[in-house]
Amino acid sequence: MVDVVNSVLVASNRGPVSFTVSDDGDLTMKRGGGGLVSGLSGVVRDEGVLWVCAALSDGDRSAARLAPGGRLDQAGYDTGKLRMLDIPPATFHRAYNAVANSTLWFVNHLLYDTPNAPYFGTRFTKEWESYRDYNGAFALALAEEAGHGAKVMVQDYHLTLTPAMLRAERPDLRIAHFSHTPWAPPEYFSLLPDEVAREVLEGILGADHAGFLTERWAGAFMDCCQSLLGAKVFDRTVSHEGRTTRIGVHGLGVDGDSLWKRACEPDVESNMAALREQVGDRRLIVRIDRTELSKNIVRGLLAYREFLAAHPEWHGRVVHLAFAYPSRHDLPEYREYTAAVQRCAKEIEDEYATEDWDPLILNVNDDYPRSLAAYRLADVLLVNPIRDGMNLVAKEGPILSPRCALVLSREAGAAAELGADALVINPYDVGETAEALRAGLEMPEEERIRRCARLKKAATALPPRRWLGEQLASL
Ligand code: F6P
Repeated sequence: MVDVVNSVLVASNRGPVSFTVSDDGDLTMKRGGGGLVSGLSGVVRDEGVLWVCAALSDGDRSAARLAPGGRLDQAGYDTGKLRMLDIPPATFHRAYNAVANSTLWFVNHLLYDTPNAPYFGTRFTKEWESYRDYNGAFALALAEEAGHGAKVMVQDYHLTLTPAMLRAERPDLRIAHFSHTPWAPPEYFSLLPDEVAREVLEGILGADHAGFLTERWAGAFMDCCQSLLGAKVFDRTVSHEGRTTRIGVHGLGVDGDSLWKRACEPDVESNMAALREQVGDRRLIVRIDRTELSKNIVRGLLAYREFLAAHPEWHGRVVHLAFAYPSRHDLPEYREYTAAVQRCAKEIEDEYATEDWDPLILNVNDDYPRSLAAYRLADVLLVNPIRDGMNLVAKEGPILSPRCALVLSREAGAAAELGADALVINPYDVGETAEALRAGLEMPEEERIRRCARLKKAATALPPRRWLGEQLASL
């Protein structure tokens, strides 16, 4: 039976857990990945909020089908209150891969015009129809689950239409939408067909409150509303067709205590020992990312190569530990990008490796304890996205390594909060990035420690609990 007393609900495409089916049909549960999930899992669970997410895999679909009303917690899973939506796979595929990831994600990261980018013709019309259906499925589930006057927090670019759809269904609810990505300026956003751009903006404006991670992304959204919808923008409000939506900026940081606690567990400690054994007392440049075009991993590797070329005195004394986890492999762009990362890494190996020095270790498997171990050992942390909503890696690093220098892209949302103590770079400028890697390695230890302490303070200033609380208050 559906429990209709929920007073606070969160909706996102990816949920806090995912399932795999073993050969003998058993379901195994593991934690979900990505910035949104790692930021929200703890607090959503602790506060007893109902999380509505999509079933993403066959394992998820089996779990959702077996649970009463898709409620995993009511099927005995230790998930916190969780409903997983079993959306038909073809609809899900078109909504998630073709529209959310190949279109809206790339537009908001200024990366739209890839060779495989969807063309806006009859095929896209069908894909857009699926995106509507997928958003509609969320609106329906939320309408079913929400108690009278409940607060509903809809997350991200997968669910831009849900706020307006939900409002039409349940005008009594208080609805927030939050974008975890950057937002494109109007001259770029308007590459979308007019009616698609309009529907996205009006979908979000169906919320009472639209939240963004930084002033910059909030400003870009308001500019789009003004120039593409003719909406009236005044003092952080957008008025359109008789309704007003408040615009909020809510930075998202890290719960430092629980991250530190996790990073001191035995599996992390043993990974630290193994990594130390592997690299000896060499200095470490670390990066940790999904293999994602916006993360700019290839230029990061090229910068490391340029650094090695310019600084032979560092040969044998430094190792670059690059974590590049698989992501979105249903899309050709991501498969091709993964291959490009691996090619570039191999070229560096071929050029510089010696019998007793491996200049680069590329980790391509999702290994959370090993990545926490790498953070703890980092001397320099490289975070060089082309564009990023916030970037929690830049915040986790200084919490876990008290003496690491942060090389940070000026285009990451986190630069607004951490820029003063990071080595800030233009992510397209490989030469500048190489020079920042050198500066980080050669920065006196006392200065690294001083900067790191301030970075840690900024990184923990906006923990997820506060982020959630601020938005609930604004509703
Ligand atoms: O907008 C950020 C985000 O929602 C993060 O949670 C994650 O990095 C990504 O987008 C979603 O990725 P995925 O397609 O793997 O769910």
